Amino acid sequence: MTALIEIERLSKRFAERTVVDDVSLSVARGEVLGFLGPNGAGKTTTMRMLAGFILPSAGTARIAGFDVLDRPIEARRRLGYLPEGAPSYPDMTVHGFLGFIAAARGFSGRAKAARVSHAVGLTELGDVVNFPIDTLSKGFRRRVGLAASLLHDPETLILDEPTDGLDPNQKHAVRTLIATIAAEKAIIISTHILEEVGAVCSRAVIIARGRVAADDTPAGLLSRSRYHNAVTLTLAPGIVAQAEALLGGLPMVAGIERDGSTLTLLARAGQEIIEAVGNAMADAGLRAHEMRLEQGRLDEVFRAITAAPPALPAPRREAA
Ligand SMILES: Nc1ncnc2c1ncn2[C@@H]1O[C@H](COP(=O)(O)OP(=O)(O)OP(=O)(O)O)[C@@H](O)[C@H]1O
Ligand SMILES: [Mg+2]
Repeated sequence: MTALIEIERLSKRFAERTVVDDVSLSVARGEVLGFLGPNGAGKTTTMRMLAGFILPSAGTARIAGFDVLDRPIEARRRLGYLPEGAPSYPDMTVHGFLGFIAAARGFSGRAKAARVSHAVGLTELGDVVNFPIDTLSKGFRRRVGLAASLLHDPETLILDEPTDGLDPNQKHAVRTLIATIAAEKAIIISTHILEEVGAVCSRAVIIARGRVAADDTPAGLLSRSRYHNAVTLTLAPGIVAQAEALLGGLPMVAGIERDGSTLTLLARAGQEIIEAVGNAMADAGLRAHEMRLEQGRLDEVFRAITAAPPALPAPRREAA
């Protein structure tokens, strides 16, 4: 696989504060990398360095083999970048703005018109092309930014929260669009929506306090969850206590969580417990209304990975 985006030991300090700390990663053609992390983790700063908008304090980044600092023109030609927030030309119409971006990308005449109309089609902006950008709703402005990043059909895309502010239908449309174009490109998308990772990403990098804390497939991340392979049973209230005692005794079951008449049985690492649970219930003549196998919970994995390190114990105070 050819890595189209390569980041090597990238760091950024603002004044004395290091906000991106020795980050390395690469993204190959065909990959969609989800870039996750809590607010302030350093996602936008990393993406801005990749796009050549701010200078790194240390390290290098290459787009399609071109160093973003030494060969900025070649690198930018191969990169589409959707910054955080909205395009900053509020008085222009959508059509005018996209034409302006296409011209800046070196297109003119028919080629320019074709690029604009293709991008408008991809992002479903046809109904609003003649509206000034500042009269558009947030979601539409987001899509105008996305259209601008796609205009020149770049090999690499860096999208900073592309679905932020979109309604559920539009989120779905943008995810579908990303999936459609992904085969030929290397794409990084930052997001706070964890379900997006499973929906569109082939890999996820989680950063916390400027450092890479995990680099894994969505399935790999799920397998780190304590709920990976857990079994959730919904029971008649009268049999919950009996089922809890019975199933809690199974050797493969690491623990039980009870919520009303729902039991979640946690699997010991690497164990598949659903069959044993089903058999134990049947042998005891107990029936569940519903029995569900869990893949794992990404929100729990995300919290565990990004949690602040434990604070140092407070100094002991002398008794007065
Ligand atoms: N120009 C700047 N000057 C000083 N500090 C900055 C600057 N830009 C960003 N920071 C700081 O760097 C840290 C990382 O910010 P960044 O915007 O990269 O986070 P993020 O991961 O994108 O967060 P969010 O999820 O909220 O978008 C933050 O603490 C932010 O305040
Ligand atoms: Mg950000």
